Amino acid sequence: MKISFHKPNIPDNLELIFPRSIRSGWLTTGSQVSKFEKILADYLGAKHVVALNSCTAGLHLALAAKNFGNKSKFIAPTLTFVSTIECGEYVGMQPILVDSDKDGFLLDLNQVEDIVKKDSSVKVIIPVHYAGQSVDLQFLWDLADKYGLFILEDAAHALESVSNGKKVGDTDHAAAFSFYANKNITTGGEGGALATNNDYLAKKVKKLSLHGITKDGWNRFRKNGNWEYDIVELGFKYNLTDYAASFGLWQMNHIMKWQKRRNEIVEKYNNALSGKEGISLPDIMEGHSKHLYVIKLKTNRWSISRDNFIELMNERGIGLAVHYKPIHLLSYYKKHYKFNKNNFPTANLLFNSIITLPLYPNLTDNELDYVIENILKLYKIYSK
Ligand SMILES: Cc1ncc(COP(=O)(O)O)c(C=O)c1O
Repeated sequence: MKISFHKPNIPDNLELIFPRSIRSGWLTTGSQVSKFEKILADYLGAKHVVALNSCTAGLHLALAAKNFGNKSKFIAPTLTFVSTIECGEYVGMQPILVDSDKDGFLLDLNQVEDIVKKDSSVKVIIPVHYAGQSVDLQFLWDLADKYGLFILEDAAHALESVSNGKKVGDTDHAAAFSFYANKNITTGGEGGALATNNDYLAKKVKKLSLHGITKDGWNRFRKNGNWEYDIVELGFKYNLTDYAASFGLWQMNHIMKWQKRRNEIVEKYNNALSGKEGISLPDIMEGHSKHLYVIKLKTNRWSISRDNFIELMNERGIGLAVHYKPIHLLSYYKKHYKFNKNNFPTANLLFNSIITLPLYPNLTDNELDYVIENILKLYKIYSK
């Protein structure tokens, strides 16, 4: 059997994705993007959503719109994808990496206030809702009020997540979502959005996402539009296309049903793998988006390494992944910032033991059984 790490949901009939407006010839940012932004804003309970061509773009634009730079600093977890960090570097900020929480995979909040207290050049915190488990946002917002900080959530995994009883995305600061191919919904492979309740920020991000232009193509060329435009500041080219938004609109119709299937898969993994001494299961709490299911191999209880485990599963046709190689271990960051490996003991430990199992609505019961059966087979042979 061949089971890929991810398989996106695409309807058999592609006509379901592409509405009349696309077929009439308007492909780039227009009515479908506006509709997608409105649906997302309603879903998130956010006042504004700006659709973009990636989450990375959302992170970058939020910092650019707030005029951060000049060697000011931001705090972010080391256990994340590079976008969380590079967005700050794009605007000339310096990262302060923080280790993972002892009990899980999130930014260790115990360290954050100490850093902020000692270093007044810290202006931003970028927490990551890793795998879909939300960070305690109320804690960070309180800290933001106390020290004048901006909280920019990397919500790439967190479209359905809830923090302190409130939907992730409903924020006076900002949250960036990803619609990359393997995310809980995709806009056809690449895409993202920035959500915020702040009018000024939303307007500025929208403008910066399209060259700093006063009027986008839709407004210039639709009926009775006027060709004239101006560029009022230095912008970027991060707009989402109507083509991509129509893909996202179709996906949003299914989000509840797909979340239910994600829950079933998580429950099945939990039931089948619990009580195995050599495997530690993720603590999936209320409000988790179930984007990733990440297990830890207790390596001292195995006669093979995590990498061997992945290879053996791959040989059986099963795709697995590792989220993530910590930032301080990546060549560019090691060279550029000379991070001290000893400062991140939890992330180092996690990195050698984590494995992400297939988790997506398209995964059939048969495929899921096959994944579980093979984990248990390896456990029987190689656990001590
Ligand atoms: C935690 C995290 N942040 C940011 C991103 C970047 O998302 P995008 O590819 O939409 O820019 C990803 C993508 O995988 C991610 O996993």
